[in-house]
Amino acid sequence: MSHKILVTGGTGYIGSHTVVELQESGYKVIIVDDLSNSNINVLDNIEKITGVKPAFEKFNLVDSERTEDFFRRNVGIEAIIHFAASKAVGESVEKPLLYYRNNLVSMINLLECQIKFDVPNIVFSSSCTVYGQPNILPVTEETPRQDSESPYGNTKRVNEDILRDSIAANPQLTGISLRYFNPIGAHSSALIGELPSGIPNNLVPFITQTAAGIRGELKVFGDDYNTSDGSAIRDYINVVDLAKAHVVAIRRLLKGKNKTNYEVFNLGTGKGLSVLEIINKFEKATGAKLKYKIVPRRTGDIEKIWADTNLANKELGWKAEKELEETLLSAWNWEKRVREIK
Ligand code: UFG
Repeated sequence: MSHKILVTGGTGYIGSHTVVELQESGYKVIIVDDLSNSNINVLDNIEKITGVKPAFEKFNLVDSERTEDFFRRNVGIEAIIHFAASKAVGESVEKPLLYYRNNLVSMINLLECQIKFDVPNIVFSSSCTVYGQPNILPVTEETPRQDSESPYGNTKRVNEDILRDSIAANPQLTGISLRYFNPIGAHSSALIGELPSGIPNNLVPFITQTAAGIRGELKVFGDDYNTSDGSAIRDYINVVDLAKAHVVAIRRLLKGKNKTNYEVFNLGTGKGLSVLEIINKFEKATGAKLKYKIVPRRTGDIEKIWADTNLANKELGWKAEKELEETLLSAWNWEKRVREIK
């Protein structure tokens, strides 16, 4: 019998790609999403890719009664992947309480239900934002975490702690926090991808929208960093590679292969690239010419970060595989399909 996995935020960007990989690996998926930052059509597109339409319920996990009712009706869930969260860094600075409520209360509600309804395993969607600007690069999982510049970043760090402490107090629970670096790209079918509402905050959606003519020009935030070309450096990871790591993490927990009840892994490529390098690679991969200008640094941005991926490579047997050009092309193909550009 196939294992039943709850994917919260499963119609979102990383969530939808993970649902595809789970279903293709034979898992039975049920999605909970309030559709606050995603579209119900994603379910049909997941079905087009995998042949299976995942089960779906629409509600916000902050609602504890609704969450309990869900677990009462859905028996036999063996693991949760918890993506559902508010994620706009700038908005979180303006509305900290909204972010703390949405992101922390949903985590607490889920953990309470795990204990009450005997759901033993959870994978949490964390972020490299918990490291702030590290002094030593690349960052390992032992690199000290720091206060974030944004409430959003702090919710990732605090949720890790809530998870760690709950597992310590409840030895029947096991969990893994996955710290993502910068996820980019889309499924090769171009049927699912990242669809930001309004003006994109993140680099690659802004690039593809500029190439599609929706934005006049890309603003490069700063060329005076202490890097080879002066622009900031990140570790950009293909979203399908990232999704596959979730399947590996779930399998690890279900098979009891975890070394401790709570584990943490960095998910990146191990390679840092500057903003200007990304622009250059995008132009090369797609043949498009990108209009851009250098503007002052963006508040809250760090200078550079990339992952030490040794632990994930060794323990999970997982490695980022896709080449950057293919990844950027997949982002462009997705943008073209959404905008109906031939
Ligand atoms: N950038 C630009 N122009 C843009 C958008 C981004 O130059 O229009 C630059 C940024 O300044 C940064 C790089 O591109 O140097 C990457 O920016 P993103 O916004 O794509 O990604 P971030 O590294 O800023 O954000 C990521 C995650 C967030 C997380 C944050 C914490 O996407 O979820 O790291 O550092 F909170």
